[in-house]
Amino acid sequence: MSLFNRYLLSPPACRDLERLRARVGGKTVLVTGASYGIGEATALLLARAGAEVLLVARTAEKLAQLAEQIRREGGKARAYPADLYKVAEVPALAAALEANHPRIDAVVSNAGKSIRRRVVQSLERDDLGRCLALNFASPASLITALLPRMIAQGGGQIVNVSTVSVKQPGAPRWAAYQGSKAGFDLWLRSVGCELRPRGVYVSSVYLPLVRTRMIAPTRLYDRMPTLSPLEAAQAIAYAIVTQAERVAPWWLGWSELLTLLVPTPINRILGYLDARSPD
Ligand SMILES: NC(=O)c1ccc[n+]([C@@H]2O[C@H](COP(=O)([O-])OP(=O)(O)OC[C@H]3O[C@@H](n4cnc5c(N)ncnc54)[C@H](OP(=O)(O)O)[C@@H]3O)[C@@H](O)[C@H]2O)c1
Repeated sequence: MSLFNRYLLSPPACRDLERLRARVGGKTVLVTGASYGIGEATALLLARAGAEVLLVARTAEKLAQLAEQIRREGGKARAYPADLYKVAEVPALAAALEANHPRIDAVVSNAGKSIRRRVVQSLERDDLGRCLALNFASPASLITALLPRMIAQGGGQIVNVSTVSVKQPGAPRWAAYQGSKAGFDLWLRSVGCELRPRGVYVSSVYLPLVRTRMIAPTRLYDRMPTLSPLEAAQAIAYAIVTQAERVAPWWLGWSELLTLLVPTPINRILGYLDARSPD
């Protein structure tokens, strides 16, 4: 990890595998969106720290390959191919997970989709519907279904893989993504208040840009500083070992304050720049 990433870009991170092992060794951890990017790196890291990982995403072959790699390294993994756009099918996924595993100790809610498109062009592709389903309704439904068992087993942990953008000004062309991620973030923080006294710890990890296929279509990001998927996974690991409610880069609080103090100029500048950039 470069010094820039370590001290400026990254949220606090757990780079000590033994520290992670002390928390997750022998535990069962569900990771959604485990086929690519941050979820794949997180599942691998957790498995190397001794967790049994349950892998959810659509791409069955990728999940099977990852599970096979983990087993070859001596770890435990099981794939659950599922399409989380189909919110109505989430309770059946939760039932299958509970039927096959006596405990689920932690959930890393990571599956997500970003869409960058002007709102006037977004209706045809149902950007809002797709983002709300995958980034909000499905993870909320999955967590709600798994909670009673988690409480009954004496507690657990839920980690939301969120983005710094939910704490920043509304950005042009990101309405569906930013809105759905912000809605889920608030939903889960509300749930977290209820659950902490019952032994279920909720963490939100606010990540900056991470070099994955998600950001590839946005050419603007080619020259911007990014974390690697492993660096992002280590920030998620930090949330797991510390059970902190908020894991964020140190500067995020300052940027939230700036947004509160001078919202109008920031919004005007963003709108002005966007209106002048090509579609
Ligand atoms: N990359 C960034 O800069 C960044 C920054 C902050 C936060 N995040 C958050 O990090 C999370 C992971 O993003 P990433 O960058 O790792 O993106 P990614 O490489 O595109 O991975 C997204 C994961 O979500 C899964 N997924 C997508 N649609 C799904 C569906 N309908 N049903 C089930 N799984 C689905 C994908 O698997 P399949 O395609 O196989 O289904 C994949 O495993 C997202 O929640 C994102 O909002 C990313």
